[in-house]
Amino acid sequence: MADRVKFGVEGLDEMLLGGLLEGSICAVVGTYGTGKTMFALQFAYEGLRRGEKVIYISLEEREEHLRTTIAQKGWDTGVFDDRLYLVRLDPTDFNLAINSIKSELSSLIKSFGAARVIIDPISLFEGLFEDASVRRREMFGFIEIMRDEACTLMLTSEANTANPEESKYGLAEYLADAVILLHRIRSPGLTEVHLALEVAKMRRSAHSREIKPFEILQDKIMVYSEAILF
Ligand SMILES: Nc1ncnc2c1ncn2[C@@H]1O[C@H](COP(=O)(O)OP(=O)(O)OP(=O)(O)O)[C@@H](O)[C@H]1O
Ligand SMILES: [Mg+2]
Repeated sequence: MADRVKFGVEGLDEMLLGGLLEGSICAVVGTYGTGKTMFALQFAYEGLRRGEKVIYISLEEREEHLRTTIAQKGWDTGVFDDRLYLVRLDPTDFNLAINSIKSELSSLIKSFGAARVIIDPISLFEGLFEDASVRRREMFGFIEIMRDEACTLMLTSEANTANPEESKYGLAEYLADAVILLHRIRSPGLTEVHLALEVAKMRRSAHSREIKPFEILQDKIMVYSEAILF
């Protein structure tokens, strides 16, 4: 039985019965502003806090913005700076982004010794492939390569606007071993919007099937695993 890798989000680790399986691939899927990047940073921080090395590939937010966000959280960056490999890939530079992720990531994981790797969001990478069948083939190939790496991989994905329960290209949820869906839920009186999450899938493990509210706080995300929605 593989060891558990703590996600680092209170409440969520309980729903995952202790955390992700070591070496597995996790996808966090949600529409804009539901907290995908916050989950990604929290997952990175948990690794760093434990003395692990972490690679964070951002296809969206600039490195300096992510560093500012990290600093605003009050996390002690000095302690882990040399164990965090934070890089922004410009998704408009097709060849650079494809080559960096497809060809160079494996050797970077090995040379850096990363225990956690994050790609935020994978949907921008998927979008580089215009043809759906090429995208599918490339993504399956990429994930196969990643399965051989000795790291736990976290992908974030934008949701499909027509169906927020699905990832933008409908691939991430099939490729990943574990899927966490982030939801925006309107209160019955339509006066407030709540964030909630569910563990939609976890290969080789039991997990909670409840939908639980969460909040993005200044320094962390809190999942209220005891709370019942409405
Ligand atoms: N310090 C904070 N305190 C409270 N809420 C915050 C704080 N920082 C961010 N948030 C909330 O988190 C949201 C942004 O989350 P995040 O950037 O992770 O979303 P995302 O899913 O990655 O969005 P996108 O798809 O646009 O990248 C903000 O809209 C805000 O509601
Ligand atoms: Mg984001």
